[in-house]
Amino acid sequence: MNNFETVLIETDLLILGGGMAACGAAFEAAHWAKQHNMKVTVVDKAAMERSGAVAMGLSAINLYLGLKNGKNTVQDYINYVKTDLMGIARDDLVANIARHVDSTVHLFEKWGLPIWKDDEGNYVNEGRWQIMIHGESYKNIVSEAAKNALKELGENGHYLERIFIAEPIMDGDRCVGAAGFSVRENKFYVFRAKAVLDVMGGAVHVFRPRSVGEGLGRSWYPPFNSGASAYFTLKAGAEMTCQEVRFVPVRFKDSYGPVGAWFLLFKSKATNAKGEDYMVTRAGELEKWAPYGTAKPTPANLRNYLMMLEVEAGNGPIYMRTDEAIKEIVANIPDEKEAKRKLKELESEAWEDFLDMTISQALNWAAHNISPEETPSEIAACEPYFISSHSGASGAWISGPEDLAPADKFWGYPNMTTIKGLFAAGDASGASSHKFSSGSFTEGRIAAKSALAFCADNAAPAPFDDAKLEELKNRILQPLVTFSENKDYANDVDVNPKFIKPRMFMFRLQKIMDEYAGGASVGFKTSKALLEKGLEFLQYMKEDAEKLAASDLNELMRCWENIHRMWQAESHIRTILFREETRWPGYYFRTDFPEMKEEWKCFANCKWNPETDSWEMLKREIEEIK
Ligand code: ADX
Repeated sequence: MNNFETVLIETDLLILGGGMAACGAAFEAAHWAKQHNMKVTVVDKAAMERSGAVAMGLSAINLYLGLKNGKNTVQDYINYVKTDLMGIARDDLVANIARHVDSTVHLFEKWGLPIWKDDEGNYVNEGRWQIMIHGESYKNIVSEAAKNALKELGENGHYLERIFIAEPIMDGDRCVGAAGFSVRENKFYVFRAKAVLDVMGGAVHVFRPRSVGEGLGRSWYPPFNSGASAYFTLKAGAEMTCQEVRFVPVRFKDSYGPVGAWFLLFKSKATNAKGEDYMVTRAGELEKWAPYGTAKPTPANLRNYLMMLEVEAGNGPIYMRTDEAIKEIVANIPDEKEAKRKLKELESEAWEDFLDMTISQALNWAAHNISPEETPSEIAACEPYFISSHSGASGAWISGPEDLAPADKFWGYPNMTTIKGLFAAGDASGASSHKFSSGSFTEGRIAAKSALAFCADNAAPAPFDDAKLEELKNRILQPLVTFSENKDYANDVDVNPKFIKPRMFMFRLQKIMDEYAGGASVGFKTSKALLEKGLEFLQYMKEDAEKLAASDLNELMRCWENIHRMWQAESHIRTILFREETRWPGYYFRTDFPEMKEEWKCFANCKWNPETDSWEMLKREIEEIK
């Protein structure tokens, strides 16, 4: 690849990503780096204003404790998260985020984020932990603050966008950088760092989405989050946790509008086609999943599960009864004029909920003549995603904070993975669900501070092996060569026996995952036999990955995105196989092990060994914080 210039960038801390966790990391790192004259470099594959899961905006901040007003404690939040995840969460990690998150939200407000206020000037809660915002420009506001913080560092603050990170760079058991390429010009990038923070988001499009044809690519979680985080830590040899804990959100059907405001703020019910509230009629089912099933609020996966049982019984469509919810609120207002005013207000809040974060759902309503105050709307379970910042949990196994973590869960630097110098936060770190946007920013701050402490303690520059780098460059750019050498073999640029284009590769992966690993089209059910077959097909895909071809830089990015997805997929299948029980029936159901078992009240971890190219599965204990 002679026409690709190699650009070498040296830094102390390398932050990979541009989402909420990356913004938090950049903001915090700038503060500490200034004091210690250190370099901070942020690399994003897109542009920070609109990258990551908050790209489109949000209508609520789902994690705010309000510790100062004394309503909630950190322990309350741990209990909530642990129950929602059926007992599987790291108390120390959840607590570390929860105890710091309020100050993050106050910063957002200071930077200009409009937060709803009541007549007394208090934040308006959506639910116990969630507060309402006018959040269309949420990400712009937060990214501006992150960039300004980096600018304060002068020469020591570096922000690069439109660079896709493909691989980690290792020096023995230490991560010393990353390699990638510009998606706009022929440049290969090598970053040499003392510490690397992986905050590249979760993964979508690993499973076949429900959307087809003109809707293809539509998903709830942003399509550009493609498993880079998990790939990076896996390839570095880091231990991963909860790779089986996918998230299946219930959303307004087809355009994936959020349901939180309807359930929590408007107190709406969801029913089957006959108008029956399945959370009431099927309440008996929850006892099978006690103590979590009988706790309040009912865990997200079990809310899903009761709905799935309705669908299986042929009782669909499932409806969010927006009309009834609005009527009920208005009916409780005796004054007619006030009731009319309230109705208008509710209508506008209902539309804003979508316009703030899922504009296409507002278009969907308009296209289908839906007025939420008159017409109920269909909701459905989406295809599965990997997102540990919401109600999933997959990610790297990281060190907790010294003052809270049990001895076996602290190894020197909070948020460091089991690989020296490699840190993770946001969707990249596992077992600390429900951090959402504010918690991801907060965790980014925690991880960056810790990573800079590592830089200070390990100040010697990492050695680089030039021959290995050249090999890496050739491997990363290979799809371009494969295409140019073979494109004339067939008369169709996309169908050619000599190579496979990334789009087709993605379809294959999604089909395998959907049919064998419990996707939406098979009712989220799977078994040992199905998983083993899926794993066999994945090995063929790994062989075919060598033949991925790219006609331009954008397709080169797509090739690597799908390699990343494939590794996310493999770790997922292996961990579902390992956990011989059903613990989250509304996320996936093991038909051969249909019950929850006490012996599996533990973390299921996995690790890929770069030396032997083999996988190790491990059980890790669940402990309360000290
Ligand atoms: S959002 O990211 O799109 O806003 P979502 O709509 O799933 O999320 O829910 C927002 C918040 O409300 C999350 O914290 C979720 O766990 C919680 N939530 C949603 N529906 C319910 C419900 N029926 N009961 C309890 N909590 C809920």
